[in-house]
Amino acid sequence: MWDKRSDMIVHEQDPFNAEPTPQVLAESDITPVDAFYSRNHGPIPAITADDWRLDVSGRVERPHVFNLDEIRQRFTTHAVTATLQCAGNRRAGLIDVRPIPGEDPWGSGAVSTAEWRGARLADILDAVGAEDDPDLHVAFTGPDVSEVATPPQPYGSSIDIAKARSGEVLLAWGMNCQPLPRIHGGPVRIVVPGYIGARSVKWVTAITVIDAPTDNYFQASAYRILAPDADPGAAGPGDGISLSTLPLNCDVLTHSDGDRVPAGPVTVGGYAQPGNGRRIERVDVSTDGGTTWNQAELDLPYGPWAWCRWTHTLCARPGPLSLVIRAFDDTATTQPETPAAVWNPKGYLNNSWPRMTLHVT
Ligand code: MTE
Repeated sequence: MWDKRSDMIVHEQDPFNAEPTPQVLAESDITPVDAFYSRNHGPIPAITADDWRLDVSGRVERPHVFNLDEIRQRFTTHAVTATLQCAGNRRAGLIDVRPIPGEDPWGSGAVSTAEWRGARLADILDAVGAEDDPDLHVAFTGPDVSEVATPPQPYGSSIDIAKARSGEVLLAWGMNCQPLPRIHGGPVRIVVPGYIGARSVKWVTAITVIDAPTDNYFQASAYRILAPDADPGAAGPGDGISLSTLPLNCDVLTHSDGDRVPAGPVTVGGYAQPGNGRRIERVDVSTDGGTTWNQAELDLPYGPWAWCRWTHTLCARPGPLSLVIRAFDDTATTQPETPAAVWNPKGYLNNSWPRMTLHVT
């Protein structure tokens, strides 16, 4: 479906929600389009490049409706390699702590990396004369009406104007050197590197410069960290902590918990992702539950917004082999040790130390 690999783990057919297996993600630095995770809250719109229009308005001097040709001709094309990560990535680990009813049990695959190509949002904001006020926000709206929202409404989100004006935020029409596929927001989407995937609005048709974060359901009510004792059914707009930047995270992709491996040298690997604007400095691997650690080899990332891939080879003896991984960023911050430490009622941002046991035969 949607030209995805047949071995995708499909959480929902309609709306389509699917992730690649960790082992498929492990195969490449840049995730092929047919393996890139897909997260949707409503029907996938069918908009052609000819039909697509973008209405830019709000606190701007010259509101304007753009078409794709105008955007491609007026603005310099930029490419950014960025990892997109859904706030629900690794939710399955939180569900193991306490149930999270009504939310899909995403595993390790709600994260993928692509080379995105398009115009800088900053250039478009300049062209329409966005007001120069550091307290403004920039809202994005898509055409897909989501029944998940209360009340049902088009998908939307917003980001602060400082991030919107940063060079890395794109209005993207290209993904891995192809036209942006419809399932990933084609003809045009927003890409906000370093922020939760929910802010990268697909099929974007309106950009509005506003005084405060948008009251769209997906900004005001969803994608917020509620207190562990909160009832998500009773939570309303503004409750909890709104999510924007991603926290430091890492995961194992080459193996899954319970895998059997032959005795001898075993190479494990995965990725580490720093928080917004930070750098991965070190990834540690422990085989004794976190008492002692060895350092993994780090690959040079494709740029400041792409995941940092790591590998570590160890000598496995027959029996159970426990693995615990942790990453450090350039401020010496590391991750929480357990999923219980970060459990929240909607199951967002599990960035606890990944743990698994391999069976060595
Ligand atoms: N944009 C629209 N219009 N509708 C959506 O449902 N989902 C968001 C975001 N943008 C969504 C959207 C979420 S939660 C994520 S994680 C990313 O898109 C996923 O992008 P992908 O499907 O290209 O991987």
